[in-house]
Amino acid sequence: MMEKQLWHPVIASTEVRDKPVGVSLLGEALVLWREPGHEGATGVVHAWSDRCPHRGARLSLGRVLNHLHGSRLECPYHGWQFAGDAAAEQSASACARCVHVPAAPEFVPPVSHTATAFEAREAHGLIWVRLMKPEAIVPPLPDGLTEPPAFEPWTDSEWRQLLCGPYEVNTSAPRLVENFLDLSHFGFVHEGWLGARSHAQVETGQVQEGAEGLQANACKAWQPRGYAGADGGAWVAYRYTVPHPFAAVLRKDATEGDPVSNAIALFIRPDGAELCTAWFAMATLGDLADDEELRSFQDTVFAQDRPVVESQVPKRLPVHKSGSVGEVHSPADRMSSAYRRYLVRLGVELGVC
Ligand code: FES
Ligand SMILES: [Fe+2]
Repeated sequence: MMEKQLWHPVIASTEVRDKPVGVSLLGEALVLWREPGHEGATGVVHAWSDRCPHRGARLSLGRVLNHLHGSRLECPYHGWQFAGDAAAEQSASACARCVHVPAAPEFVPPVSHTATAFEAREAHGLIWVRLMKPEAIVPPLPDGLTEPPAFEPWTDSEWRQLLCGPYEVNTSAPRLVENFLDLSHFGFVHEGWLGARSHAQVETGQVQEGAEGLQANACKAWQPRGYAGADGGAWVAYRYTVPHPFAAVLRKDATEGDPVSNAIALFIRPDGAELCTAWFAMATLGDLADDEELRSFQDTVFAQDRPVVESQVPKRLPVHKSGSVGEVHSPADRMSSAYRRYLVRLGVELGVC
């Protein structure tokens, strides 16, 4: 499954502190745990299979130990201790080695006494995990997909960063991405918020399709209130990028009369073919609304999308023309058609039909 070779967000970074946390990704139960930090720096995060190799207990019920020779994860059942070795986890999938068996303290555990470790990274307020190295894949993955997707405004200290979510949604990740790229629902689903029925026409702009994903500039929609704190309506121009099959970034630059620059990234954890969990990583420059207002604006907008998106049949996105379900298009759907072609080019199987 090519999706196992992509980086996926699994949980907000702030949710993993001094206790191990269980989370599931593509049917794989994972335990995430963080090494205690030193001198104000946060410790490294590990993502292992949530199963003790001794008797199969859930490691996420265990404890993090700060040992003299490095941090360890202790199994809840017989207290076996597994050593974290971030360097080894980045280069090889074998680590998470058992280093101590309390009931047999003289025993030196062999290599077979090892939990399964995966690569983990932190980016944009989230922990990202890759279940499989992209070695065996043909055609090879584009360069942009060998790392978690880039989101520049989040790394720029001048911008304010805010993570909204998680939103668990009863649909496929591709349906949700397509909804995020779709301007022409604004006047109906978000009437009075992001659009108006009386100004339903949109401009789809120029869509560029390449190996690295999609890019669209000068997409325009009329908005009565395009951002928290705005008053009065106007045409608003957006730029979109799709750097990953289950992620998309929307940017709105400040213009004369509107001092706010916004960037919103949709990051999705695929929980299955028809279930996913989403976060919005928001970065703003010049927005006077406080974090709570921005978050509640985003929650409101998403609550408007949810019933419609969850009502779509089928829940998987029909990308194959030969598939049993056809959908028809209008000229306003240029982005969504490009997105469907991108998924087909990459060979994405999860959440499509
Ligand atoms: S099951 Fe984990 S130590 Fe026995
Ligand atoms: Fe929407």
